Amino acid sequence: MTAEWIRWPANVVARFGGEPVAFGGDYNPEQWDEHVWHEDVRLMREAGVNLVTVGVFSWSTLQPEPGRWNFGWLDRVLDLLHAHDIAVDLATATASPPPWLTTRFPEVLPVDRHGRTMAQGGRQAWSPSSLVYREHSLELVERMAGRYGEHPALALWHVSNELGGHNSRCYGEQSAAAFRAWLRERYHDSLDELNAAWTTAAWSQTYSAWTEIQPPRLTFTDSNPTQELDFDRFSSDRLREQLRAEIAVLRRVTPDIPITTNMVLFDAGKNMDYSSWTADLDLVASDHYLRPTPDAHVELSFSADRARGLARGGPWLLMETATGATSWRSVNPAKRPGQLRRDVFAHVARGSDGICFFQWRAARAGAERFHSAMLPHAGAGSRKFREVAALGAELASCSEVLGTRVAADCALLFSEESWWAAERASHPHNGLSYAETALGWHRTLWEAGVTVDVVPPSADLSGYRLIVVPMLYLISDRDAAAVAAAAEAGATVLVSYFSGIVDPLDRVRLGGYPGAFRDLLGVRVEEFAPLAEADSVEIDGVTGPARVSTWHEEIELTDAVAEARYLDGDFAGAPAVTRAARGAGEAWYVGVELPADARARLLDAVAKRPSAGRPADGLEVVTRRSAGHAYLFLINHGDTEVTVQGSGTDLLDGSVHEGKITVPAGGVRVVGSAR
Ligand code: GAL
Repeated sequence: MTAEWIRWPANVVARFGGEPVAFGGDYNPEQWDEHVWHEDVRLMREAGVNLVTVGVFSWSTLQPEPGRWNFGWLDRVLDLLHAHDIAVDLATATASPPPWLTTRFPEVLPVDRHGRTMAQGGRQAWSPSSLVYREHSLELVERMAGRYGEHPALALWHVSNELGGHNSRCYGEQSAAAFRAWLRERYHDSLDELNAAWTTAAWSQTYSAWTEIQPPRLTFTDSNPTQELDFDRFSSDRLREQLRAEIAVLRRVTPDIPITTNMVLFDAGKNMDYSSWTADLDLVASDHYLRPTPDAHVELSFSADRARGLARGGPWLLMETATGATSWRSVNPAKRPGQLRRDVFAHVARGSDGICFFQWRAARAGAERFHSAMLPHAGAGSRKFREVAALGAELASCSEVLGTRVAADCALLFSEESWWAAERASHPHNGLSYAETALGWHRTLWEAGVTVDVVPPSADLSGYRLIVVPMLYLISDRDAAAVAAAAEAGATVLVSYFSGIVDPLDRVRLGGYPGAFRDLLGVRVEEFAPLAEADSVEIDGVTGPARVSTWHEEIELTDAVAEARYLDGDFAGAPAVTRAARGAGEAWYVGVELPADARARLLDAVAKRPSAGRPADGLEVVTRRSAGHAYLFLINHGDTEVTVQGSGTDLLDGSVHEGKITVPAGGVRVVGSAR
């Protein structure tokens, strides 16, 4: 990644008196008559918009039929935006192929696991393995780059859109052929190697020819887990190939324009191994839509902390979020008063150097006509637009936080491969959710006021004081060794159950659980003992008294000590939570699924922090720092005013605080001070 995260056009820099916090959204002028565009740019300026994403779904408008190109409208849109000092994040427009392409070449269409071909009429109707799609999409990218590479409004390239959002897994014949080619390379053209890697001797699956191998299509029973895992890897790699192919064109034609693609870092983003994509990008961009739950801000933080982790602590951009409701859930709640502002500043607090929305103007028609926008159906004379314009002004007053780093000395290891593998069938407890487990530990840290980088296991762990490893089911020897080395070097490592269980081929690590972490933790487990729904056991120790359900196991201490023990049940008296001294650090193991309050008490003990140091309920506290300044973000998600210690000047309202800072109920403060 380069430091030049965005190439701000000179007129935008001049208008904002320096590089601004990016503010804007997806702009789809192709859905509107041209006279509307003039109102758009006028209102964009009114709202403080400085960056819009253009062209995401415009392929069929740009190329209405084979060989016919229609760029005039986009020329005019870019000129108009530039004339109003608005920079452009230009999409390569490859996200959704036009009907003529899928009609002439039906093999472009993706096929689901049931063998059903997905039709044109929605979006992303292309198979990541389609060579026809690849060829036509690259022709489009070449034309976009050639035509707009020199346009003064162009600040950033936006490859495709949420690559793999809908079409990540294709089980058709083309994908089968591409999967085989991928496997031949991975297993050095050796079927013996593949048969060994997949343990095909189980259930009579030994292959005698490459043509016998298929994607994991519909079967009566669970299919081969390693075949599934390799298909996950292959599918993510196929999308990365498309990303790389588009990037190659852009870098050749426009070497000075930074490149991004927008990623979905939770929930719907499960299918992509984003940690293997980011090295190709100049900027990590994330899309985030709130879950409709009362504590949705905690999941928001997870997504933002993951974006920062993928950006290795550097700047990242919130490319899409909603000003209000989405339109794709069964019920799409509006945001509560003040929520939009809190959400926006939570992203900025956690390292985003810009805030963009889907979308600028609410659609009048089409599948997303009820999705919220910056400019709602009600028009500019609306509460929503006033809120958006107020946000634009507030963000403009925060430009000094640009490029500062979020202070975090805790890492939470999160791995897409573990996500795929841990949630596969035929496990000791098939109700476990890897993602929710990671989120649960993140929530415990959030509530304790600990800022966490969510990073892949391969990340550099050297700067972290605390490393939390929730249910990291699959891990390589190398990554497990790095965790152990971090403990030796002084970190406190906390590992939760069902971690380190298998190698990267989903083969169980022998000799006792938790396999890869057994020596680090100084424990050995011979048998998993998940608990049926009605069962629970009591434990006590550093966790305080707690009733645990879902999972427990009998832990044998090799050189760890017990920090909590079972009070009843089959393992009464045995350890449930352990600690081992390791070099300058220590390693904790949690062999049970703890309720939230016990987890909080455990965290205080593990992190050696007084529970009195916790922030008030619902108060989000994050610090961004530069060499000379610290910016304290205080976001009050609660219903009562909160006062904390601190001094400095609030960037948002200019108020000066000496010794104490009061944050109104539902309010936000960004307090800057010299360090
Ligand atoms: C995203 C997508 C946008 C828009 C948005 C609506 O997944 O990238 O184009 O559809 O969802 O929430």
